[in-house]
Amino acid sequence: MNKENIKKIEELIESFFYTEVDLNKKVIIASNEAIKNGGKRLRPLIMYEIYKAVAGDEYKEDIIAPYLAAIEMIHTFSLIHDDLPAMDNDRLRRGKPTTWVSHGEDMAILAGDMLSVQAFEIISNKMQEVDDIIVLKRMTRALYKLARATGGFGMIGGQCVDVEYCGRKMTEEVIRYTYALKTGALLQASFVIGGILAGANEVEIELLKKAGAYIGEAFQIRDDYLDIVADEKELGKPTHSDEKNEKITYVNIVGIDESLRRVESLSADAKKCLKEVRGNMNSIVEIIDMMVNRTS
Ligand code: IPE
Ligand code: IPE
Ligand code: MG
Ligand code: MG
Ligand code: MG
Repeated sequence: MNKENIKKIEELIESFFYTEVDLNKKVIIASNEAIKNGGKRLRPLIMYEIYKAVAGDEYKEDIIAPYLAAIEMIHTFSLIHDDLPAMDNDRLRRGKPTTWVSHGEDMAILAGDMLSVQAFEIISNKMQEVDDIIVLKRMTRALYKLARATGGFGMIGGQCVDVEYCGRKMTEEVIRYTYALKTGALLQASFVIGGILAGANEVEIELLKKAGAYIGEAFQIRDDYLDIVADEKELGKPTHSDEKNEKITYVNIVGIDESLRRVESLSADAKKCLKEVRGNMNSIVEIIDMMVNRTS
């Protein structure tokens, strides 16, 4: 069932791609390829399922579509830059050579830059067509949430702390701050934007926010755990990247067993929040279970 949705989401994302025909095609090829290389599509999948559950009969694919594409574009931008030599210096992503390895550092920097802006271009382009003021207000709020989750107080801010603390002692507090921003912000935005566009009320948006924050933290702890124990082929990215970069992770501080317990309890807390949001949340619960037990 998720597979079908993923295929649909991938088709929607690709419908927003730029064509690779002009003099600028190098950067467009690099960006499109980074997205087409795969990945679990968790952020658009979560957004889509929340939107569907809350919107019910009011589901409108053309309204949610640019947001699904945009969040995957921003996430892919974060990965392209995260792998650069100046950051984590990794050569494998989604089972393929990283963008800087395939297309050079210059194109990898520009591809990330391009995707970060393309995301907002495709949303604002759609907004120009919408006359319904209620829908337009929801779209504006969702656009703001996406911008906030991406920028200095979101993913980019988190990546700043992450690289700044390489090789340095990190308290649990700093780790949780970093995870909440670098990984939590975009995952949380997926929950919240799905709800906002579907017309969730303020209480429900608050619950989606909390659920997203719990899942964001759990997801990064699982990522750090996999960096230590996973099989590189299955993971599709290098293992022991954190050790190489002298990164202190939650797993280093509290150990593997406690980390896995924490992932479990965070996911239970998230599910509790979702129970109080309207609509059938079974698909989301399935996605959460898959996320916190993932091996890739
Ligand atoms: C990897 O995210 C980066 C983190 C925030 C931990 P994903 O594990 O969702 O990466 P893809 O999209 O499936 O490749
Ligand atoms: C990822 O943290 C956070 C991002 C915003 C990309 P990591 O550096 O641990 O992610 P991976 O393991 O390279 O996917
Ligand atoms: Mg990193
Ligand atoms: Mg990395
Ligand atoms: Mg990692």
